[in-house]
Amino acid sequence: MKICCIGAGHVGGPTMAMIALKCPDVRVTVVDINKERIAGWNSNQLPVYEPGLSEVVKQCRGRNLFFSTDIEEAIQASDMIFVSVNTPTKTYGIGAGKAADLRYWEQCARRIAAVSHEDKIVVEKSTLPVRTAESLRAVLKANGQGCRFEILSNPEFLAEGTAIRDLENPDRVLIGHDDTNSGRAASEKLVEIYARWVPHEKILTSNIWSSELSKLVANAFLAQRVSSINSISALCEATGADVDEVAVAVGGDSRVGPKFLKASIGFGGSCFQKDISNLIYLCEHYGLHEVAEYWSQVIKINDWQKSRFTRRMVETMFNTVAGKRIAIFGFAFKKDTNDTRESPAINVCRDLLNEQAQLSIYDPRVTEVAIRRDLEAATGLSGASFQKRIMVEKDAYAAVESAHAVAILTEWDEFRNLDYNRIRQVMLKPGFIFDGRNILSPEASRMLCPAVYGIGKPNASART
Ligand code: UDX
Ligand code: UDX
Repeated sequence: MKICCIGAGHVGGPTMAMIALKCPDVRVTVVDINKERIAGWNSNQLPVYEPGLSEVVKQCRGRNLFFSTDIEEAIQASDMIFVSVNTPTKTYGIGAGKAADLRYWEQCARRIAAVSHEDKIVVEKSTLPVRTAESLRAVLKANGQGCRFEILSNPEFLAEGTAIRDLENPDRVLIGHDDTNSGRAASEKLVEIYARWVPHEKILTSNIWSSELSKLVANAFLAQRVSSINSISALCEATGADVDEVAVAVGGDSRVGPKFLKASIGFGGSCFQKDISNLIYLCEHYGLHEVAEYWSQVIKINDWQKSRFTRRMVETMFNTVAGKRIAIFGFAFKKDTNDTRESPAINVCRDLLNEQAQLSIYDPRVTEVAIRRDLEAATGLSGASFQKRIMVEKDAYAAVESAHAVAILTEWDEFRNLDYNRIRQVMLKPGFIFDGRNILSPEASRMLCPAVYGIGKPNASART
Protein backbone atom coordinates (compact mmCIF):
# COMPACT_ATOMS: atom_id res chain seq x y z
CA MET A 1 0.00 0.00 0.00
CA LYS A 2 1.26 3.49 -0.84
CA ILE A 3 -0.12 6.63 0.70
CA CYS A 4 0.77 10.29 0.44
CA CYS A 5 -0.18 13.44 2.28
CA ILE A 6 -0.37 16.90 0.74
CA GLY A 7 0.58 19.44 3.44
CA ALA A 8 3.63 18.90 5.67
CA GLY A 9 2.41 21.08 8.53
CA HIS A 10 1.71 20.57 12.22
CA VAL A 11 -0.98 18.00 11.40
CA GLY A 12 0.25 16.31 8.20
CA GLY A 13 3.88 15.81 9.31
CA PRO A 14 3.36 14.18 12.71
CA THR A 15 0.32 12.13 11.58
CA MET A 16 2.15 10.60 8.62
CA ALA A 17 5.25 9.95 10.74
CA MET A 18 3.10 7.93 13.15
CA ILE A 19 1.46 5.93 10.33
CA ALA A 20 4.93 5.19 8.92
CA LEU A 21 6.15 4.08 12.35
CA LYS A 22 3.23 1.74 12.95
CA CYS A 23 2.95 0.38 9.39
CA PRO A 24 6.51 -0.41 8.16
CA ASP A 25 5.09 -2.06 5.02
CA VAL A 26 3.20 1.08 3.97
CA ARG A 27 5.19 3.61 1.95
CA VAL A 28 4.32 7.11 3.17
CA THR A 29 5.27 10.24 1.22
CA VAL A 30 4.59 13.72 2.57
CA VAL A 31 4.59 16.52 0.01
CA ASP A 32 4.28 20.28 0.26
CA ILE A 33 4.50 23.29 -2.05
CA ASN A 34 6.84 24.91 0.47
CA LYS A 35 10.42 23.83 -0.43
CA GLU A 36 11.94 25.13 2.81
CA ARG A 37 9.48 23.13 4.87
CA ILE A 38 10.33 19.94 3.02
CA ALA A 39 14.06 20.67 3.36
CA GLY A 40 13.43 21.09 7.09
CA TRP A 41 11.68 17.72 7.33
CA ASN A 42 14.67 16.15 5.57
CA SER A 43 17.15 17.75 8.01
CA ASN A 44 17.92 17.46 11.71
CA GLN A 45 16.04 20.71 12.40
CA LEU A 46 12.41 19.70 11.87
CA PRO A 47 10.12 22.65 11.08
CA VAL A 48 7.64 21.51 13.74
CA TYR A 49 8.62 21.12 17.39
CA GLU A 50 6.78 18.34 19.19
CA PRO A 51 8.16 16.25 22.06
CA GLY A 52 9.11 12.80 20.67
CA LEU A 53 8.59 13.72 17.02
CA SER A 54 12.22 13.78 15.90
CA GLU A 55 12.79 10.27 17.31
CA VAL A 56 9.85 8.92 15.28
CA VAL A 57 11.00 10.70 12.10
CA LYS A 58 14.59 9.47 12.53
CA GLN A 59 13.37 5.90 12.82
CA CYS A 60 11.26 5.94 9.64
CA ARG A 61 12.76 8.56 7.31
CA GLY A 62 14.34 6.96 4.26
CA ARG A 63 12.80 3.59 5.26
CA ASN A 64 9.11 4.05 4.51
CA LEU A 65 8.70 7.76 5.22
CA PHE A 66 9.69 10.31 2.58
CA PHE A 67 9.38 14.08 2.31
CA SER A 68 9.27 15.60 -1.15
CA THR A 69 8.13 18.57 -3.23
CA ASP A 70 7.13 16.40 -6.18
CA ILE A 71 3.38 16.50 -5.56
CA GLU A 72 2.42 15.07 -8.94
CA GLU A 73 4.58 11.99 -8.61
CA ALA A 74 3.35 11.33 -5.08
CA ILE A 75 -0.30 11.56 -6.18
CA GLN A 76 0.27 9.21 -9.10
CA ALA A 77 2.12 6.64 -7.01
CA SER A 78 -0.42 6.52 -4.16
CA ASP A 79 -3.62 4.55 -3.58
CA MET A 80 -4.71 6.88 -0.83
CA ILE A 81 -4.12 10.65 -0.69
CA PHE A 82 -4.53 12.57 2.57
CA VAL A 83 -5.00 16.30 2.19
CA SER A 84 -3.86 18.32 5.20
CA VAL A 85 -3.37 21.78 3.78
CA ASN A 86 -4.34 24.84 5.75
CA THR A 87 -7.90 26.14 5.75
CA PRO A 88 -7.53 29.62 7.25
CA THR A 89 -10.39 31.98 7.95
CA LYS A 90 -11.29 34.04 4.87
CA THR A 91 -9.95 37.59 5.03
CA TYR A 92 -11.79 38.88 1.98
CA GLY A 93 -15.17 38.86 0.25
CA ILE A 94 -18.22 36.88 1.28
CA GLY A 95 -17.85 35.46 4.78
CA ALA A 96 -14.66 37.43 5.55
CA GLY A 97 -13.61 36.84 9.15
CA LYS A 98 -15.76 33.73 9.53
CA ALA A 99 -15.90 31.35 6.58
CA ALA A 100 -13.07 28.91 5.86
CA ASP A 101 -10.88 29.79 2.89
CA LEU A 102 -11.04 26.64 0.81
CA ARG A 103 -8.93 27.77 -2.09
CA TYR A 104 -5.93 25.56 -1.19
CA TRP A 105 -8.22 22.60 -0.85
CA GLU A 106 -9.83 23.18 -4.21
CA GLN A 107 -6.42 23.62 -5.86
CA CYS A 108 -5.35 20.27 -4.40
CA ALA A 109 -8.52 18.56 -5.64
CA ARG A 110 -7.99 19.94 -9.15
CA ARG A 111 -4.40 18.77 -9.13
CA ILE A 112 -5.35 15.29 -7.95
CA ALA A 113 -7.98 15.05 -10.68
CA ALA A 114 -5.63 16.31 -13.37
CA VAL A 115 -2.75 13.90 -12.74
CA SER A 116 -4.48 10.69 -11.60
CA HIS A 117 -4.73 7.83 -14.07
CA GLU A 118 -6.01 5.26 -11.58
CA ASP A 119 -8.76 5.12 -8.92
CA LYS A 120 -7.85 6.89 -5.68
CA ILE A 121 -9.15 7.39 -2.19
CA VAL A 122 -8.97 11.05 -1.14
CA VAL A 123 -8.97 11.61 2.62
CA GLU A 124 -9.96 14.94 4.16
CA LYS A 125 -7.51 15.42 7.03
CA SER A 126 -7.88 19.20 7.31
CA THR A 127 -10.79 20.52 9.31
CA LEU A 128 -13.41 21.51 6.76
CA PRO A 129 -16.91 22.96 6.78
CA VAL A 130 -19.64 20.35 6.71
CA ARG A 131 -20.58 19.33 3.14
CA THR A 132 -17.15 20.14 1.68
CA ALA A 133 -16.95 16.58 0.40
CA GLU A 134 -19.85 17.37 -1.91
CA SER A 135 -17.93 20.19 -3.62
CA LEU A 136 -14.81 18.06 -3.79
CA ARG A 137 -16.69 15.27 -5.46
CA ALA A 138 -17.94 17.71 -8.09
CA VAL A 139 -14.44 19.09 -8.75
CA LEU A 140 -12.86 15.62 -8.93
CA LYS A 141 -15.58 14.27 -11.17
CA ALA A 142 -15.59 17.17 -13.57
CA ASN A 143 -11.81 17.23 -13.99
CA GLY A 144 -10.92 13.54 -13.67
CA GLN A 145 -9.45 11.37 -16.41
CA GLY A 146 -12.15 8.76 -16.08
CA CYS A 147 -10.96 7.21 -12.81
CA ARG A 148 -13.06 6.92 -9.66
CA PHE A 149 -12.47 8.89 -6.49
CA GLU A 150 -13.80 7.88 -3.10
CA ILE A 151 -13.83 10.65 -0.51
CA LEU A 152 -13.34 9.94 3.19
CA SER A 153 -13.37 12.37 6.09
CA ASN A 154 -10.80 11.55 8.77
CA PRO A 155 -10.41 14.64 10.97
CA GLU A 156 -7.35 14.79 13.18
CA PHE A 157 -7.97 15.38 16.88
CA LEU A 158 -4.35 15.70 18.01
CA ALA A 159 -3.41 18.72 20.12
CA GLU A 160 -0.10 20.44 19.50
CA GLY A 161 2.53 19.80 22.14
CA THR A 162 1.10 16.33 22.78
CA ALA A 163 0.83 15.24 19.12
CA ILE A 164 2.89 12.06 19.41
CA ARG A 165 1.09 10.92 22.58
CA ASP A 166 -2.32 11.75 21.03
CA LEU A 167 -1.50 9.93 17.78
CA GLU A 168 -0.12 6.88 19.55
CA ASN A 169 -3.04 6.60 21.92
CA PRO A 170 -6.03 8.51 20.52
CA ASP A 171 -9.33 8.76 22.42
CA ARG A 172 -10.97 7.87 19.12
CA VAL A 173 -10.34 7.84 15.37
CA LEU A 174 -13.21 9.06 13.21
CA ILE A 175 -13.77 7.99 9.61
CA GLY A 176 -16.70 9.36 7.61
CA HIS A 177 -17.65 7.70 4.34
CA ASP A 178 -20.37 7.58 1.72
CA ASP A 179 -23.14 5.15 2.42
CA THR A 180 -22.39 3.06 -0.67
CA ASN A 181 -20.53 -0.21 -1.16
CA SER A 182 -17.48 1.55 -2.56
CA GLY A 183 -17.62 4.13 0.25
CA ARG A 184 -17.68 1.38 2.88
CA ALA A 185 -14.83 -0.47 1.13
CA ALA A 186 -12.68 2.67 1.10
CA SER A 187 -13.41 3.27 4.77
CA GLU A 188 -12.40 -0.33 5.52
CA LYS A 189 -8.98 0.28 3.93
CA LEU A 190 -8.37 3.24 6.22
CA VAL A 191 -9.67 1.33 9.24
CA GLU A 192 -7.07 -1.36 8.48
CA ILE A 193 -4.27 1.18 8.72
CA TYR A 194 -5.34 2.54 12.11
CA ALA A 195 -6.20 -0.91 13.41
CA ARG A 196 -2.47 -1.73 13.44
CA TRP A 197 -2.20 0.16 16.71
CA VAL A 198 -5.60 1.57 17.70
CA PRO A 199 -8.12 -0.80 19.37
CA HIS A 200 -11.11 -1.49 17.09
CA GLU A 201 -13.66 -0.06 19.52
CA LYS A 202 -11.93 3.32 19.29
CA ILE A 203 -12.23 3.49 15.49
CA LEU A 204 -15.59 5.07 14.77
CA THR A 205 -17.13 5.16 11.33
CA SER A 206 -19.98 7.47 10.42
CA ASN A 207 -21.60 9.25 7.54
CA ILE A 208 -19.35 11.82 5.96
CA TRP A 209 -21.32 14.88 7.12
CA SER A 210 -21.29 13.75 10.76
CA SER A 211 -17.54 13.32 10.55
CA GLU A 212 -16.93 16.77 9.03
CA LEU A 213 -19.23 18.44 11.56
CA SER A 214 -17.90 16.52 14.58
CA LYS A 215 -14.46 18.08 14.28
CA LEU A 216 -15.83 21.63 14.31
CA VAL A 217 -18.15 20.79 17.19
CA ALA A 218 -15.43 19.05 19.24
CA ASN A 219 -13.24 22.15 19.03
CA ALA A 220 -16.18 24.44 19.77
CA PHE A 221 -17.04 22.46 22.93
CA LEU A 222 -13.43 22.52 24.14
CA ALA A 223 -13.08 26.24 23.51
CA GLN A 224 -16.41 26.85 25.22
CA ARG A 225 -15.09 25.26 28.42
CA VAL A 226 -12.06 27.53 28.41
CA SER A 227 -14.23 30.60 27.82
CA SER A 228 -16.64 29.46 30.56
CA ILE A 229 -13.91 29.13 33.18
CA ASN A 230 -12.27 32.34 31.97
CA SER A 231 -15.55 34.23 32.43
CA ILE A 232 -15.68 32.89 35.98
CA SER A 233 -12.06 33.94 36.59
CA ALA A 234 -13.20 37.57 36.46
CA LEU A 235 -15.89 36.88 39.05
CA CYS A 236 -13.28 35.17 41.26
CA GLU A 237 -11.03 38.23 41.13
CA ALA A 238 -13.98 40.41 42.15
CA THR A 239 -15.12 38.20 45.02
CA GLY A 240 -11.95 36.72 46.52
CA ALA A 241 -12.70 33.19 45.29
CA ASP A 242 -9.81 31.25 43.71
CA VAL A 243 -10.55 29.99 40.19
CA ASP A 244 -8.34 26.89 40.55
CA GLU A 245 -10.26 25.85 43.66
CA VAL A 246 -13.57 26.48 41.88
CA ALA A 247 -12.35 24.44 38.86
CA VAL A 248 -11.42 21.49 41.08
CA ALA A 249 -14.79 21.61 42.84
CA VAL A 250 -16.79 21.92 39.61
CA GLY A 251 -14.66 19.44 37.65
CA GLY A 252 -15.01 16.92 40.50
CA ASP A 253 -18.55 16.28 39.28
CA SER A 254 -18.00 13.38 36.91
CA ARG A 255 -20.68 14.76 34.61
CA VAL A 256 -18.49 17.82 34.06
CA GLY A 257 -15.01 16.30 34.46
CA PRO A 258 -11.72 17.99 35.34
CA LYS A 259 -10.15 18.66 31.93
CA PHE A 260 -10.03 21.97 30.02
CA LEU A 261 -10.94 24.02 33.08
CA LYS A 262 -7.63 25.82 33.41
CA ALA A 263 -8.18 29.56 33.51
CA SER A 264 -5.79 31.42 31.23
CA ILE A 265 -5.19 34.63 29.33
CA GLY A 266 -7.42 33.11 26.66
CA PHE A 267 -7.20 30.26 24.21
CA GLY A 268 -5.03 30.49 21.10
CA GLY A 269 -3.80 28.12 18.41
CA SER A 270 -4.68 27.53 14.81
CA CYS A 271 -7.98 25.74 15.42
CA PHE A 272 -10.34 27.07 18.09
CA GLN A 273 -11.00 30.57 16.78
CA LYS A 274 -11.00 29.44 13.15
CA ASP A 275 -13.31 26.50 13.70
CA ILE A 276 -15.83 28.35 15.87
CA SER A 277 -15.93 31.20 13.33
CA ASN A 278 -16.58 28.63 10.68
CA LEU A 279 -19.35 27.03 12.76
CA ILE A 280 -20.94 30.46 13.23
CA TYR A 281 -20.80 31.08 9.50
CA LEU A 282 -22.47 27.75 8.80
CA CYS A 283 -25.24 28.49 11.31
CA GLU A 284 -25.85 31.88 9.71
CA HIS A 285 -25.92 30.25 6.29
CA TYR A 286 -28.68 27.93 7.48
CA GLY A 287 -30.59 30.88 9.05
CA LEU A 288 -29.89 29.73 12.62
CA HIS A 289 -29.09 33.16 14.04
CA GLU A 290 -29.59 32.28 17.72
CA VAL A 291 -27.20 29.36 17.40
CA ALA A 292 -24.66 31.60 15.66
CA GLU A 293 -25.01 34.19 18.45
CA TYR A 294 -24.57 31.50 21.12
CA TRP A 295 -21.21 30.37 19.71
CA SER A 296 -20.09 33.94 18.94
CA GLN A 297 -20.10 34.55 22.66
CA VAL A 298 -17.31 31.97 23.15
CA ILE A 299 -15.04 34.07 20.96
CA LYS A 300 -16.17 37.36 22.49
CA ILE A 301 -15.28 36.16 25.99
CA ASN A 302 -11.90 35.03 24.68
CA ASP A 303 -11.14 38.45 23.16
CA TRP A 304 -12.33 40.11 26.35
CA GLN A 305 -10.14 37.84 28.51
CA LYS A 306 -7.03 38.73 26.50
CA SER A 307 -7.64 42.48 26.79
CA ARG A 308 -8.70 42.18 30.45
CA PHE A 309 -5.28 40.78 31.31
CA THR A 310 -3.45 43.79 29.88
CA ARG A 311 -5.90 46.21 31.48
CA ARG A 312 -5.29 44.65 34.87
CA MET A 313 -1.54 44.94 34.36
CA VAL A 314 -1.75 48.61 33.52
CA GLU A 315 -4.10 49.41 36.41
CA THR A 316 -1.93 47.54 38.89
CA MET A 317 1.22 49.29 37.72
CA PHE A 318 -0.17 52.68 38.79
CA ASN A 319 -2.11 53.19 35.54
CA THR A 320 0.94 53.60 33.36
CA VAL A 321 3.42 51.29 31.70
CA ALA A 322 4.79 53.95 29.33
CA GLY A 323 8.56 53.58 29.01
CA LYS A 324 8.56 50.67 31.48
CA ARG A 325 10.44 47.48 30.60
CA ILE A 326 8.20 44.42 30.90
CA ALA A 327 9.57 40.89 30.66
CA ILE A 328 7.40 38.53 28.63
CA PHE A 329 7.82 34.85 29.54
CA GLY A 330 6.52 32.71 26.69
CA PHE A 331 5.20 33.56 23.25
CA ALA A 332 3.86 30.22 21.93
CA PHE A 333 0.09 29.64 22.19
CA LYS A 334 0.75 26.85 24.71
CA LYS A 335 3.74 24.93 26.05
CA ASP A 336 5.72 22.28 24.16
CA THR A 337 5.16 23.79 20.73
CA ASN A 338 6.92 26.42 18.62
CA ASP A 339 3.57 27.41 17.08
CA THR A 340 2.43 31.01 17.64
CA ARG A 341 -0.69 31.07 15.48
CA GLU A 342 -3.42 33.08 17.29
CA SER A 343 -1.24 33.08 20.40
CA PRO A 344 -2.80 35.30 23.09
CA ALA A 345 0.75 36.55 23.72
CA ILE A 346 0.51 38.49 20.45
CA ASN A 347 -2.54 40.42 21.72
CA VAL A 348 -1.03 41.09 25.13
CA CYS A 349 2.26 42.32 23.60
CA ARG A 350 0.40 44.49 21.10
CA ASP A 351 -1.75 46.08 23.82
CA LEU A 352 1.28 46.71 26.04
CA LEU A 353 3.13 48.29 23.11
CA ASN A 354 0.11 50.52 22.49
CA GLU A 355 0.52 51.62 26.11
CA GLN A 356 4.13 52.56 25.20
CA ALA A 357 5.79 49.77 27.18
CA GLN A 358 9.20 48.29 26.29
CA LEU A 359 9.19 44.49 25.97
CA SER A 360 11.91 41.92 26.60
CA ILE A 361 10.61 38.61 25.35
CA TYR A 362 11.85 35.10 26.05
CA ASP A 363 10.37 31.83 24.79
CA PRO A 364 12.30 28.54 24.95
CA ARG A 365 11.25 27.36 21.46
CA VAL A 366 9.91 30.26 19.43
CA THR A 367 12.57 31.86 17.24
CA GLU A 368 13.32 35.57 17.15
CA VAL A 369 12.28 35.56 13.48
CA ALA A 370 8.80 34.27 14.36
CA ILE A 371 8.35 36.77 17.21
CA ARG A 372 9.37 39.64 14.92
CA ARG A 373 7.07 38.45 12.14
CA ASP A 374 4.04 38.21 14.45
CA LEU A 375 4.60 41.50 16.26
CA GLU A 376 5.40 43.43 13.10
CA ALA A 377 2.13 42.19 11.62
CA ALA A 378 0.18 43.01 14.79
CA THR A 379 1.64 46.45 15.48
CA GLY A 380 2.99 47.84 12.23
CA LEU A 381 6.30 48.53 14.00
CA SER A 382 9.43 47.65 12.04
CA GLY A 383 13.12 48.41 11.67
CA ALA A 384 14.56 50.85 14.19
CA SER A 385 11.25 51.56 15.93
CA PHE A 386 10.85 47.81 16.52
CA GLN A 387 14.43 47.48 17.85
CA LYS A 388 13.89 50.33 20.26
CA ARG A 389 10.74 48.84 21.79
CA ILE A 390 11.21 45.07 21.63
CA MET A 391 14.14 42.88 22.65
CA VAL A 392 14.16 39.12 22.18
CA GLU A 393 16.30 37.51 24.90
CA LYS A 394 18.10 34.18 25.15
CA ASP A 395 16.92 33.33 28.66
CA ALA A 396 14.44 34.38 31.32
CA TYR A 397 17.03 36.01 33.62
CA ALA A 398 18.28 38.28 30.84
CA ALA A 399 14.68 39.29 30.09
CA VAL A 400 13.96 40.44 33.66
CA GLU A 401 17.07 42.64 34.12
CA SER A 402 15.74 46.07 35.20
CA ALA A 403 12.15 45.13 34.36
CA HIS A 404 9.20 46.65 36.20
CA ALA A 405 7.10 43.54 35.69
CA VAL A 406 7.00 39.97 34.39
CA ALA A 407 4.06 38.63 32.39
CA ILE A 408 3.92 34.83 32.14
CA LEU A 409 2.03 34.15 28.93
CA THR A 410 2.88 30.48 28.17
CA GLU A 411 2.93 27.69 30.75
CA TRP A 412 6.40 26.30 29.88
CA ASP A 413 7.60 23.99 32.69
CA GLU A 414 10.89 25.87 32.99
CA PHE A 415 9.01 28.97 34.18
CA ARG A 416 7.79 27.06 37.24
CA ASN A 417 11.31 26.29 38.34
CA LEU A 418 12.99 29.66 37.95
CA ASP A 419 14.67 31.28 40.93
CA TYR A 420 12.04 33.95 41.55
CA ASN A 421 14.00 35.47 44.42
CA ARG A 422 16.87 36.11 42.03
CA ILE A 423 14.35 37.55 39.61
CA ARG A 424 12.93 39.91 42.24
CA GLN A 425 16.41 41.15 43.01
CA VAL A 426 17.27 42.20 39.46
CA MET A 427 13.86 43.77 38.84
CA LEU A 428 12.95 47.34 39.69
CA LYS A 429 10.87 47.81 42.85
CA PRO A 430 8.04 47.31 43.48
CA GLY A 431 8.13 44.37 41.07
CA PHE A 432 4.99 42.75 39.74
CA ILE A 433 4.49 39.26 38.39
CA PHE A 434 1.38 38.69 36.28
CA ASP A 435 0.88 34.96 36.02
CA GLY A 436 -1.34 34.55 32.96
CA ARG A 437 -1.25 30.76 33.25
CA ASN A 438 -1.44 30.27 37.02
CA ILE A 439 1.72 28.19 37.05
CA LEU A 440 3.32 29.60 40.18
CA SER A 441 2.45 27.47 43.19
CA PRO A 442 0.40 29.07 45.99
CA GLU A 443 3.49 28.74 48.23
CA ALA A 444 5.73 30.54 45.77
CA SER A 445 3.06 33.19 45.25
CA ARG A 446 2.70 33.72 49.00
CA MET A 447 6.45 33.98 49.44
CA LEU A 448 6.63 36.65 46.77
CA CYS A 449 3.50 38.36 48.04
CA PRO A 450 2.30 40.96 47.23
CA ALA A 451 3.85 40.74 43.81
CA VAL A 452 2.04 37.85 42.06
CA TYR A 453 -1.22 38.43 40.21
CA GLY A 454 -2.78 35.25 38.85
CA ILE A 455 -5.83 34.83 36.65
CA GLY A 456 -8.94 34.46 38.81
CA LYS A 457 -6.86 34.71 41.97
CA PRO A 458 -7.65 37.01 44.86
CA ASN A 459 -5.73 40.25 44.35
CA ALA A 460 -2.22 40.05 45.78
CA SER A 461 -2.67 43.23 47.81
CA ALA A 462 -5.93 41.94 49.26
CA ARG A 463 -4.01 39.04 50.76
CA THR A 464 -1.52 41.08 52.77
C1 UDX B 1 -3.95 22.55 8.83
C2 UDX B 1 -5.31 23.22 9.01
O1 UDX B 1 -5.10 24.54 9.45
C3 UDX B 1 -6.20 22.49 9.95
O2 UDX B 1 -7.49 23.00 9.90
C4 UDX B 1 -6.29 21.08 9.58
O3 UDX B 1 -7.00 20.35 10.54
C5 UDX B 1 -4.95 20.46 9.26
O4 UDX B 1 -4.18 21.26 8.40
P1 UDX B 1 -1.66 22.61 10.13
O5 UDX B 1 -1.08 21.33 9.70
O6 UDX B 1 -1.40 23.04 11.54
O7 UDX B 1 -3.25 22.58 10.03
O8 UDX B 1 -1.31 23.77 9.09
P2 UDX B 1 0.11 24.21 8.55
O9 UDX B 1 1.16 23.92 9.56
O10 UDX B 1 -0.08 25.59 8.02
O11 UDX B 1 0.36 23.21 7.32
C6 UDX B 1 -0.26 23.25 6.08
C7 UDX B 1 0.78 22.94 5.01
O12 UDX B 1 0.14 22.78 3.75
C8 UDX B 1 1.84 24.03 4.82
O13 UDX B 1 3.13 23.48 4.99
C9 UDX B 1 1.62 24.51 3.38
O14 UDX B 1 2.80 24.89 2.72
C10 UDX B 1 0.98 23.29 2.74
N1 UDX B 1 0.19 23.59 1.52
C11 UDX B 1 -0.74 24.57 1.53
C12 UDX B 1 0.40 22.84 0.38
O15 UDX B 1 1.27 21.97 0.35
N2 UDX B 1 -0.36 23.09 -0.73
C13 UDX B 1 -1.28 24.07 -0.78
O16 UDX B 1 -1.94 24.28 -1.79
C14 UDX B 1 -1.48 24.84 0.40
C1 UDX C 1 -7.08 21.77 19.74
C2 UDX C 1 -7.84 20.51 20.19
O1 UDX C 1 -7.53 20.21 21.56
C3 UDX C 1 -7.50 19.35 19.30
O2 UDX C 1 -8.27 18.22 19.67
C4 UDX C 1 -7.77 19.74 17.86
O3 UDX C 1 -7.46 18.70 16.99
C5 UDX C 1 -7.02 21.00 17.48
O4 UDX C 1 -7.35 22.04 18.37
P1 UDX C 1 -4.59 22.69 20.07
O5 UDX C 1 -5.10 23.97 19.50
O6 UDX C 1 -3.32 22.13 19.55
O7 UDX C 1 -5.68 21.55 19.93
O8 UDX C 1 -4.35 22.91 21.65
P2 UDX C 1 -5.25 22.80 22.98
O9 UDX C 1 -4.49 22.00 23.96
O10 UDX C 1 -6.64 22.37 22.72
O11 UDX C 1 -5.24 24.31 23.52
C6 UDX C 1 -5.89 25.36 22.82
C7 UDX C 1 -5.78 26.65 23.63
O12 UDX C 1 -6.59 26.60 24.79
C8 UDX C 1 -4.36 26.95 24.11
O13 UDX C 1 -4.07 28.31 23.93
C9 UDX C 1 -4.42 26.56 25.56
O14 UDX C 1 -3.46 27.25 26.34
C10 UDX C 1 -5.84 26.95 25.93
N1 UDX C 1 -6.37 26.21 27.08
C11 UDX C 1 -6.54 24.87 27.03
C12 UDX C 1 -6.70 26.90 28.24
O15 UDX C 1 -6.55 28.12 28.31
N2 UDX C 1 -7.20 26.20 29.31
C13 UDX C 1 -7.40 24.86 29.28
O16 UDX C 1 -7.87 24.29 30.29
C14 UDX C 1 -7.04 24.16 28.11
